[in-house]
Amino acid sequence: MIENYFSLPLFMEVNEKYDLFYEETEKAISSARKDNHKFISRLLGGMERETQPQPAGIIDGGFMSPYEKPNFLEFYDLFLKKYIEHCVSRYVSETRWSFIKPDTDYESVIDESWINIDGKGCYQSAHTHPRSIISGTYYHQCDGDEGNLVLYNPIPYIQYGQFPENIYTCGGELPVQIQKGKLVLFPSWLQHRTDCNRTDKERISIAFNVSVKEK
Ligand SMILES: [Fe+2]
Repeated sequence: MIENYFSLPLFMEVNEKYDLFYEETEKAISSARKDNHKFISRLLGGMERETQPQPAGIIDGGFMSPYEKPNFLEFYDLFLKKYIEHCVSRYVSETRWSFIKPDTDYESVIDESWINIDGKGCYQSAHTHPRSIISGTYYHQCDGDEGNLVLYNPIPYIQYGQFPENIYTCGGELPVQIQKGKLVLFPSWLQHRTDCNRTDKERISIAFNVSVKEK
């Protein structure tokens, strides 16, 4: 009998109500691009650029230190916030996290959230999200060819072996195909990066850090 160990549960879902969420989220992003640059990531998470042109909308602001705790979703009180918190609750309950005790009420709370606007030549180098439990990304605007999210295999030594044969367990990286409305949740310690956007289009995503607390 074969038993699998060391697998990593990840949450991936395409929001069925993407169209309903789009307009409200788009309005908030437009407002942030005009007046609230603090919600737009430039350096948090190691944003880098291969080419000089900046993504439209980012001129002089947008720098975030890891201590500022920007919360885009909360500031604009978006429906998207409720959807993400609901999915985080599903993620922790379906993976039977032992932190969740029976007969106790818990809630998922988005502690930080920000907008990633990746124009041509933009990518994020490998990083983790310290001081958080669950992190994730929601794809607000993309066609799917603007560069994937890449999750690193948390068992680094497996890339030096040849057995067992499995592209995702033997390889060092898992490319996650991006898609409009796709939500990806992962443990905050999991190293990840984004592929370079080589198109002329913007890849716009909302990233966030979530904690789970007793009510
Ligand atoms: Fe990240």
